[in-house]
Amino acid sequence: MTAKTICKIGNDLLIKVSQPVIQFDTPTLHKLIADMLTTMQATHGAGLAAPQIGINLQVMVFGVDNNPRYPTAEKVPQTVLINPDIKILSQEKTYLWEGCLSVPGLRGLVPRFKHIYYCGYDVKGNFIEREVSDFHARVVQHEYDHLNGILMPQRVADMRQFGFESELKEKIAADYEK
Ligand code: NI
Repeated sequence: MTAKTICKIGNDLLIKVSQPVIQFDTPTLHKLIADMLTTMQATHGAGLAAPQIGINLQVMVFGVDNNPRYPTAEKVPQTVLINPDIKILSQEKTYLWEGCLSVPGLRGLVPRFKHIYYCGYDVKGNFIEREVSDFHARVVQHEYDHLNGILMPQRVADMRQFGFESELKEKIAADYEK
């Protein structure tokens, strides 16, 4: 398990569409996921997608439990999700000052669907499916975007609502205390 360097916005690896995983339960896949979990924990990410460490595969990890970057966010179970698919369950959206490890130091007010269904596979190829809402749904939509080469700033509805965390402290704190 090694904490990897995270690619930052501007790196072409982040704007590619990821390829599906074909073979499950391989040493290479286990190593990739261990590295991703270590990297996510080391950087206090709520989630991480394989392209962020330069791997062009449809693999994401996420989970939130007392995260200092999202202090009051609801808990999200630690999950490995491979070859994911998402279905939007209602058109209702929520807004939150969202961050991204590939866009360090910046936050944007991002609308996401409030209620989604997602499915995919774990490292062994077992099928996973869940119906989720709010922060859990947000994290999955954010990581899913990474697999399609889409970064958080592209989802900011109004670019006046995008900037440095240091300038947005009060707005971010108010958002996460709701
Ligand atoms: Ni991100």
